[in-house]
Amino acid sequence: MNPEINALNRDTIVDFIGSIFDRRGGEEYLGEPVTMGEHMLQGATIAEQNGQSEEIIVAALLHDIGHFTSEFGTFTMGDTEDRHHEDAGAEVLERFFPKVITDCCRYHVAAKRYLCATRPEYFKRLSEASIHSLNLQGGAMSPDEVAAFEKNPNLETIIAVRYLDEAGKRPDMETPDYWHFAPMVQRQVDRHSKVNA
Ligand SMILES: [Fe+2]
Repeated sequence: MNPEINALNRDTIVDFIGSIFDRRGGEEYLGEPVTMGEHMLQGATIAEQNGQSEEIIVAALLHDIGHFTSEFGTFTMGDTEDRHHEDAGAEVLERFFPKVITDCCRYHVAAKRYLCATRPEYFKRLSEASIHSLNLQGGAMSPDEVAAFEKNPNLETIIAVRYLDEAGKRPDMETPDYWHFAPMVQRQVDRHSKVNA
């Protein structure tokens, strides 16, 4: 990691993530009718409109931050294979956010594979691009994988965020920008740093 990124702390991380949304949120979300920034903002906005918890709102907002991990210096030219964006994102988030939020990021791809195995009606929600990536990601989970996944104490929250992931792909939705959510993001960072103080 470069030194500037290493120097990020609880007082600077929220603005830093905001600058990523501002500078790079307009990038294409491959195969979807929304940009990366719109996708994450839509999930967070839908969660807020549904009255879901602040940790779910923040998790939806940040779940795909791994698409921007070059910003955090975790990508290097020495990488010999693709880094899974969910792991790369969780690696960044775990320094600053409660485990439940990190887990929603780390397991959002696994959650798709889990829901395809356990809730047949879920598959209908998937976009074409998401079905395509599902196949690359290993398809629906096996019964053993399902049993192991259900041991995660944050299962319910992880699934809630996965549904928001599917929901946040609307070509025509108005959302507030990142800065509307920034105070919530800060509260989650503060909560984490208190626990780890
Ligand atoms: Fe997503």
